[in-house]
Amino acid sequence: MDLTKRPLEHELDPIETATRDQIAAVQTRRMAWSLRHAYENVPHYRAKCDAAGVSPDDFKDLSDLARFPFTTKQDLRETYPFGSFAVPMSEVVRIHASSGTTGKPTVVGYTQADIKMWASVMARSIRAAGGRHKDRVLVSYGYGLFTGGLGAHYGAETLGATVIPMSGGQTERQVQLIKDFEPDLIMVTPSYMLVIADQMERQGMDPRDCSLRAGLFGAEPWTNRMRDELETRLGIDAVDIYGLSEVIGPGVAQECIESKDGPHIWEDHFYPEIIDPETGAVLPDGELGELVFTSLTKEAMPIIRYRTRDLTRLFPGTARSMRRMEKVTGRSDDMLIIRGVNVFPSQIEEMILKDHRLAPHYQLEVRRERHLDDLTIKIEVRPDLHDESAKTAAAKELQHHIKSYIGVSTTVTVVEGGGIERSMGKAKRVVDLRPKE
Ligand code: DLL
Repeated sequence: MDLTKRPLEHELDPIETATRDQIAAVQTRRMAWSLRHAYENVPHYRAKCDAAGVSPDDFKDLSDLARFPFTTKQDLRETYPFGSFAVPMSEVVRIHASSGTTGKPTVVGYTQADIKMWASVMARSIRAAGGRHKDRVLVSYGYGLFTGGLGAHYGAETLGATVIPMSGGQTERQVQLIKDFEPDLIMVTPSYMLVIADQMERQGMDPRDCSLRAGLFGAEPWTNRMRDELETRLGIDAVDIYGLSEVIGPGVAQECIESKDGPHIWEDHFYPEIIDPETGAVLPDGELGELVFTSLTKEAMPIIRYRTRDLTRLFPGTARSMRRMEKVTGRSDDMLIIRGVNVFPSQIEEMILKDHRLAPHYQLEVRRERHLDDLTIKIEVRPDLHDESAKTAAAKELQHHIKSYIGVSTTVTVVEGGGIERSMGKAKRVVDLRPKE
């Protein structure tokens, strides 16, 4: 059977091209089930509902969701490790955990049906990125408690592609495998992709000559300028994959290769809302706010109105009928307030990538001197720039642009190639050296 000749429409899940009414009907039915499932089986969530005076009987249509209490990371910590599970442990076939930077990690669980659903939305995501069953997929997201590696792995297998389960790290080996196994797609954080590209060059290979056709980049914020950088440097299509472990892992939303206009949310399984982070009020589509998700089909760990801390807005569907989210370029907890000015690392990234003398490896360091916050930007220059005065000029200009566009004074320090710590997974963009309160 030659599946390669089938037109794309025949391969899509019917819901990907359903009408909005059809989607809403599926969502309403599933939401009623999910709210009841959480209420009846997760005592912590039931107590929150009871305190708010709301029960699953109050849910009649999607607008009623706003009456239900939010779930926060704090709730998941309070029920650590398994208290948010809604099924007996004997039904849980997998556990993942996110390495919280503060306190306990967040633990998530999956039933057999959850794993199947996750694999299907990941297969859908890889297909939206142009992947087909004949492709080879290099999975360079970390395998383990992090959801990136195994999530990508099951999705690629479900699509029928050939998985190369490399995981993160061992950069020389990554390059060797790309040379020898000739993968079509890569799934990796955008920052680690750059590390791999640097290594290709070190090994005398032009990254544009590699076999890769497209990359599914996510797990950390990255800008459209970073997309240009990755596409030009590697001669590939760079598309955005979004997800979080509390909701399922990667594959909550995926950008389509034909439109590259922000990830489409797989709304038949994950219902999005945008809220005002201060008041909790639901905002209309198009407005910027905090993204909140309710799972519609998850068995082991239903999650109701989970506050992601990711800032974005919702837009109508384009390449698919499900809604899109604007590329997430900041989390509310990533935002630095420097002398009253809000600064996101992504704003700085945009400016760095506009300057051809600067390399896309950077870190923001915040210090507190006599009660005032100081921001230093450490940045590498492109490896072919050796002229000291050009380096100083590039640093000065960046400092000037940040002051005039963002309105904050910074110190820009140029460091040697390799001077910024490389990550094999999510890049660490902010180093906070302020004394802990
Ligand atoms: O990062 C899941 C994932 C793995 C997504 C691989 C995509 C690819 P967590 O470790 O729980 O899960 O981290 C979730 O990472 O709330 C966002 O702040 C950030 N994030 C994930 N994808 C993107 C993206 C995985 N495409 C947190 N753009 C989320 C921006 C992203 N931020």
